[in-house]
Amino acid sequence: MEKIIALCKSRGFIFQGSEIYGGLANTWDYGPLGVELKNNIKREWWKFYVQECKNSIGMDGGILMNPNVWVASGHVAGFSDPLVDCKSCKTRHREDKIENNKCPNCGKSDFTETRQFNLMFKTNRGVVEGDGDVIYLRPETAQSQFVNFQNLQRTSRLKLPFGVGQIGKAFRNEITPGNFTFRTLEFEQMEYQWFTTEEESMRDYEDIKNYATRFYKERLGLKEVRWTKHETLSHYAKAAEDAEFKFPFGWGEIGGNHHRGRFDLTNHQELSKKNMQYEGYIPTVIESSHGADRILLAVLCNAYHEEEDRVVLKIKPSLAPYKVAVFPLQKNELGKKAEEIFSLLSKEVMTTYDETGSIGKRYRRQDEIGTPFCVTVDFETLEDNCVTIRDRDTMKQERISIDKLVEYVYTRTR
Ligand code: GAP
Repeated sequence: MEKIIALCKSRGFIFQGSEIYGGLANTWDYGPLGVELKNNIKREWWKFYVQECKNSIGMDGGILMNPNVWVASGHVAGFSDPLVDCKSCKTRHREDKIENNKCPNCGKSDFTETRQFNLMFKTNRGVVEGDGDVIYLRPETAQSQFVNFQNLQRTSRLKLPFGVGQIGKAFRNEITPGNFTFRTLEFEQMEYQWFTTEEESMRDYEDIKNYATRFYKERLGLKEVRWTKHETLSHYAKAAEDAEFKFPFGWGEIGGNHHRGRFDLTNHQELSKKNMQYEGYIPTVIESSHGADRILLAVLCNAYHEEEDRVVLKIKPSLAPYKVAVFPLQKNELGKKAEEIFSLLSKEVMTTYDETGSIGKRYRRQDEIGTPFCVTVDFETLEDNCVTIRDRDTMKQERISIDKLVEYVYTRTR
């Protein structure tokens, strides 16, 4: 894990949040390569869950919602962790994570009484502070799909069953330290809510779980993924399983498949007094929930390979931050031609340019960040209008006409 963290920092995938001020625990910033990788993961998810499904639509809800949303959803009353303080070293811990009744920091066994700590971040709206003005940063994106159920159904004119995808930020006041970006205060969820009938719901639950498995394997290329049933169910769930990836620090949850029953829509109907029914009944919801940040970390861990003389990120080309790198063999005389090629490619795919160091060194730099193709412009290029293209995984090189270059890269990196 240390090697992956070091690579993320040195090559610009992920930086410590507010680093110059000593950081802020469990917050991270994505750098130039991290933002590309994350955007590609989110785009792939949207394509798989929204674009390619006939009965699917998307939406983008606000982070701030009427506080009653969180009363109806059960988060105000029940979204909490059991906390204790170590009286000896004054550190705070989740009681359910403490082993052998020993403080993970100092090893003593002198704790305060357990108390419930709500994970929602509170803030105040307006200028006067007071209970009436308390609002929350959403702890999950899902509730926007539920409170908008009638708007979504009416405007899309979709009949049940149908699904609604959404990608957006969620916030949780996590107190246990995370493994790198695994557990953070602020993260992005990619959540899909499938509105169906109670009768069909268990069959749909299985189908949606299998669809998620296909997403992990086919679209992300993750090798080590398994499903684990929840031992205790969340306040809303009728059935639930975690999708777990084998990280270097052990199996960790990257997503979930949840049978939410009629819990959310029923509670919103009761509290808002607005009708949440479709053709006289309240739909049942199956949720496919995914953490974009944890998936990004899984993609990096899955892709990291050390070979004899290189480190290579074997990321699926569709997810790679840069699809192609352009190198002039010699910067003075070949720079102009190489820049023309950069300009040609960069209109279609993310392209990078490198003119320093030996070609071998430049290949290694691109291997380390997962760039699937490198293009070298040499003196012959000026004569035959061809370049050498080198494949990241096989390291094979071939000569190709510049006229065919864009199509070659585009079709192999989509
Ligand atoms: N709407 C259902 C829901 O929020 P969850 O299992 O609490 O379910 C879904 O969260 C996903 O969000 C998790 O599988 C994980 O990938 C991601 N996630 C949850 N808490 C996180 C955190 N503190 N940091 C990063 N990702 C988190």
